[in-house]
Amino acid sequence: MFSRIVRPTVVATRSFSTSKQNNFKVAVCGASGGIGQPLSLLLKINPLVSQLSLYDLVHTPGVAADLSHIETAAKVKGFNGPECLKDALKNADVIIIPAGVPRKPGMTRDDLFNTNAGIVKALAECAAEVAPCALIGIITNPVNSAVPIACEVLKKAGKLDPKRVFGISTLDIVRANTFIAEAKGLNPKDVNVPVIGGHSGVTIIPLISRATPSVSFPADQLQALTTRIQEAGTEVVKAKAGAGSATLSMAYAGARFANSLLRGLKGEPNVIEPAYVQSDVTEASYFSTPLVLGKNGLEKNLGLGKLSDFEQDLLKKALPELKKNIEAGVKFANQ
Ligand code: NAD
Ligand code: LMR
Repeated sequence: MFSRIVRPTVVATRSFSTSKQNNFKVAVCGASGGIGQPLSLLLKINPLVSQLSLYDLVHTPGVAADLSHIETAAKVKGFNGPECLKDALKNADVIIIPAGVPRKPGMTRDDLFNTNAGIVKALAECAAEVAPCALIGIITNPVNSAVPIACEVLKKAGKLDPKRVFGISTLDIVRANTFIAEAKGLNPKDVNVPVIGGHSGVTIIPLISRATPSVSFPADQLQALTTRIQEAGTEVVKAKAGAGSATLSMAYAGARFANSLLRGLKGEPNVIEPAYVQSDVTEASYFSTPLVLGKNGLEKNLGLGKLSDFEQDLLKKALPELKKNIEAGVKFANQ
């Protein structure tokens, strides 16, 4: 079930000496939520995590007590309320942020901006103060604006290293792999579809022409699959009928991304994972592309690569929306 999460660690154990660090402090902000709880569970069973710091406004003593009984090495500690935030984040190697409100049917991710922008801003301010070297992974929506907010906050504090701040778009890749595998009768674990751009509607750009193994579809099916990947979040929001948005699949995706960050920190080579980062590969100043992750976070941006005409067209449609989302985030952080 967790082969994408576990398999690389097994490879690393075989290939490298034991001198590499493999005990990291990971903090989860929003740890009591729909994503936060299952994500914290998956982090508790990750052998690279030695300290798991669970921060939320509510319920963290219970979540931490519960997880702490699991027979893995990670030491779990709950931190409840803003007065505990500094202790929660202090010297974290990785901070994962799923704090904030989710969508209800009829809402766009941008409708969450008013509530979630301030939450991300406050968490980034604290990270700048007590964990300036942490790798920060942001799940909170709207991701397209939340990452620029965090970067601007860190910049103002003189602590921005853009190679350390990531918008987690992994769920788009997870979904693309699943849907393409279903369409072709393949095992999803063997399928890899890069998804670039941002994390909302038209800004999500699946690169089906670059899927491995190579696949092809008639134009109408290609369009339908692309639209399904772009609207998959809304599919879940509608199915949950007012009870929130994707939580379990996001916890899986968040744990996969966190594991990739930790494998990079550990010094494992060739850790490649797309994420939404400060970028100069397009005219949008933040953009998701495949990245090589390493000891300092983003080691190398692998860029756009070759796009089909269909994908070029998707990119053209994505850029104005993405630039608008980025501008909103930058403006908010600086007002
Ligand atoms: P949720 O309401 O179940 O949980 C959110 C948690 O955040 C709650 O426990 C809440 O107490 C906590 N919280 C609120 N304000 C906080 C603060 N200031 N500090 C710390 N914690 C705080 O929501 P959820 O379903 O877990 O979704 C969380 C966010 O993740 C939403 O914004 C959602 O849109 C987003 N999301 C992103 C992706 C993605 O692909 N990036 C996927 C799914 C959901
Ligand atoms: C998703 O893609 O599932 C998340 O961004 C949540 C949402 O609001 O769709």
